[in-house]
Amino acid sequence: MKTSIIGVGSSLPEKIVTNDDLAKIVDTSDEWIRQRTGIVTRHIATKETTSSMIEDAARKAIADAGIRAEELDLIIVATVSGDYRFPSAACILQAALGNDRANTFDIVVGCAGCVYGLNIADSFIKSGKVRYALVIGAETISKLTDWEDRSTCVLFGDGAAGFVVAASEDDSVGIQGILARGNGRDGMSLTMKERENMSPWADGEKVWDYLHMDGQAVFKFACRKVPESINELLDSLGLTADDIDKFFLHQANYRIIETVAKMMKQPLEKFPTNMDRVGNISAASVPCLMDEYYHKGLLKKGERHVLCGFGAGLTYATAVVVWDK
Ligand code: COA
Repeated sequence: MKTSIIGVGSSLPEKIVTNDDLAKIVDTSDEWIRQRTGIVTRHIATKETTSSMIEDAARKAIADAGIRAEELDLIIVATVSGDYRFPSAACILQAALGNDRANTFDIVVGCAGCVYGLNIADSFIKSGKVRYALVIGAETISKLTDWEDRSTCVLFGDGAAGFVVAASEDDSVGIQGILARGNGRDGMSLTMKERENMSPWADGEKVWDYLHMDGQAVFKFACRKVPESINELLDSLGLTADDIDKFFLHQANYRIIETVAKMMKQPLEKFPTNMDRVGNISAASVPCLMDEYYHKGLLKKGERHVLCGFGAGLTYATAVVVWDK
């Protein structure tokens, strides 16, 4: 038995912010951002919230799967920017969908989010406890960003996207293999500190921190771990990179994609991208890109895909999926 992707959906905020818009608020330029990252525009939430985008993406994925929300046994939301500390974004979604039976929780794995969530859903489905699972990655990173820090504020966008997955009796389709790992030792290269203890008995400054990143450390981590994890997974499945039709990698930086393609000795055409238009949308990145390709008719039934997310933690997750929609 395998876990198959039966629905996909995404949601992006209406407002589009260009590199030139950013050059008006920080010392940067369209040329620098394009050359160093490949990003040209990104969507930024104004009236949208993390929860509203999650609900929109989830409803689209559920409709695409052709099931009813009440049938979901498992709802996982990958986010670091939910609207509430608690209840979880997944529980807020569950209520909005009118589902009152699913096992429902959030995971905090940054940009590895949706592929990490797929790994959990795959295990639940294979255990026989779950028939239909919803895995959504969603971020409003714009509310965590220091808009005076040019080294981070130009990179991210907001959005939500995800998958409905279900058991498939046909072993030749769906998730053929998946791995998810943490690399906590390097975790401090991408952080956002929790709100300080505000109790009257606690010492220390009462501040709300922003997202901080050692860009080069994360860059090196990605260029090392992405090809390593893909090769490990392919080896375990008796496959090589040449057997893969498309590599859906987390859209953090075009130079990371170029480096991975080169290391894997694969043509860049096999690496779809949309970071030029949406920037780094963290946990939503991989399913958003796949949703775009799917709706443009660019995903063919029977194609073999690699999905790979990496980010805060540091964490990474990689899957080989045979597309059967
Ligand atoms: N506009 C103009 N100049 C900028 C800038 C910006 N937006 N951001 C940084 N710079 C400057 C730096 O201050 C530095 O100037 P200096 O040489 O005078 O000190 C110079 O550009 C080079 O900075 P550096 O950090 O070395 O650039 P880089 O080539 O490593 O690119 C990132 C920076 C962030 C784009 C890149 O490291 C990256 O993409 N890392 C991975 C990030 C990632 O994937 N994060 C998400 C994880 S999921």
